[in-house]
Amino acid sequence: MSRIAYVNGRYLPLRDAAVNVEDRGYQFSDGVYEVCEVRAGQLIDERRHLDRLAYSLKELRIAMPMTPGALGVILREVVRRNRVHWGIVYLQVTRGVSRRDHAFPPPGTRPSLVVTARNLDLAHSERMAAEGIAVITLPDNRWERVDIKSVSLLPNVLAKQAAREQGAREAWFVDKDGRVTEGSSSNAWIVTGDGKVITRHVDHGILKGITRTVLIDVIAAQGLALEERAFTVDESYRAREAFVTSASQIVMPVVRIDGRSVGNGAPGLVATALRREFHRFTETA
Ligand code: PDD
Repeated sequence: MSRIAYVNGRYLPLRDAAVNVEDRGYQFSDGVYEVCEVRAGQLIDERRHLDRLAYSLKELRIAMPMTPGALGVILREVVRRNRVHWGIVYLQVTRGVSRRDHAFPPPGTRPSLVVTARNLDLAHSERMAAEGIAVITLPDNRWERVDIKSVSLLPNVLAKQAAREQGAREAWFVDKDGRVTEGSSSNAWIVTGDGKVITRHVDHGILKGITRTVLIDVIAAQGLALEERAFTVDESYRAREAFVTSASQIVMPVVRIDGRSVGNGAPGLVATALRREFHRFTETA
């Protein structure tokens, strides 16, 4: 079965799905994206993802390409046409096609919209969660507005590749004061020796993950203590547990940081329980 993508009004086999060479996403990374989990063929937390999309677009002064309702119809159609059972749907909006010039294109230039979807390997993800993953840390060299989910991801790409080359699954960015901001494609969390769950506060310095937002409800329901504050790399080395969150990984235990074992070196009880309970707190349409 050939995969299908939505590109500016048309559903096309992936091999024919292309954007114009003067698309500003291609020329300038002038665009934003969202990744939504698909579970049992259903979109998870569509409303929150489309709200964050609207926020990213507003911050960059790109128009919403259509109403959230119409976007939702396309997302679901792409999921259906690709027979996604468990996986992700990807949506990208750019400032559109125009002769290359850094400044904004003429008024009326239509934003471009691309949607793709694919199955992921749930069994593989579960195996990884049962084993836990390794992370490395490296300096956060991104721009100062990473709260915008921009497709401009070069530092994230290089960080993820550095992780891969060191046998790790994720890289944690560290600010100038030695504090972890977030992962290259996930939010970062630790559980302290006295059982407090810590994740960095939100401001312009991290992406406000949808998984992070939902997990805060799960944490409250489990009666766990949460602190939204920065933590240092050193604190993470001494943590009882660590984990990362994202739409595709849900809650993924971290068992090694920079080659040092976290806690007893196995996925922690808190991370495991939060992963198990997570979908009782998400929204499905
Ligand atoms: N990444 N921080 C960064 C830098 C991210 O790229 C992501 C998500 C997150 C977690 O956000 P959420 O919980 O809404 O997925 C945090 C997506 C999945 C990606 O780039 O593939």
